Amino acid sequence: MKILVFGFSLRKGSFSRTIAEACEELAPKGTEIELYDIADIPIFNQDLEHSMPESVIRFKDAIRNSDALLIVMPEYNYSVPGYLKNAIDFASRPHQDNVFAGKPVGIISESTGLLGGARAQYHMRQSFVFLEVVDMKKPEAFITFASEKIKDGKVVDETTKEHISKYISALADFAKANANRNKVA
Ligand SMILES: Cc1cc2nc3c(=O)[nH]c(=O)nc-3n(C[C@H](O)[C@H](O)[C@H](O)COP(=O)(O)O)c2cc1C
Repeated sequence: MKILVFGFSLRKGSFSRTIAEACEELAPKGTEIELYDIADIPIFNQDLEHSMPESVIRFKDAIRNSDALLIVMPEYNYSVPGYLKNAIDFASRPHQDNVFAGKPVGIISESTGLLGGARAQYHMRQSFVFLEVVDMKKPEAFITFASEKIKDGKVVDETTKEHISKYISALADFAKANANRNKVA
């Protein structure tokens, strides 16, 4: 069971990256976590969709070669961060080669505020409809007040660690049960 984790922010000391790194430690036995950094994906331009940049080809291959995706993301301006939406838009093209179709997906959102990126997470789920992913609807994972739960590049809050661990187990079970369920490509 290989889970590709992406969506974490690009800044040094990123809380979402720290959560993604914690997933490596907290994943159950038999689950392989691969962190994927999307920093090298250029701004989408539809003129490029039939001669894809190397970085997008690599990202699409990584998606294809995984059993499930885990998006770990912050909230920006009540929505999905632009760098992440951009990478997903690129990887979903051309439409007849949408690598997301049929892929089991989970989301862990985080923010330094009270809602843990809930608004961004539900915007992401709206895009899931057109992407034709097989999204795990429950359990959900929102990491609130991230700056209190993450210190010096580590998740220090035990309850949060437990939630992350349980969430990955649930996603692995969901992915096994739904392998290639809706695959169209
Ligand atoms: C451009 C920008 C917009 C933000 N907008 C929101 C927001 O709408 N809601 C929220 O709860 N936090 C917002 N934040 C705070 C981030 O969600 C929070 O700092 C988060 O931990 C950033 O993730 P990172 O540490 O992985 O970079 C925003 C931060 C930035 C940089």
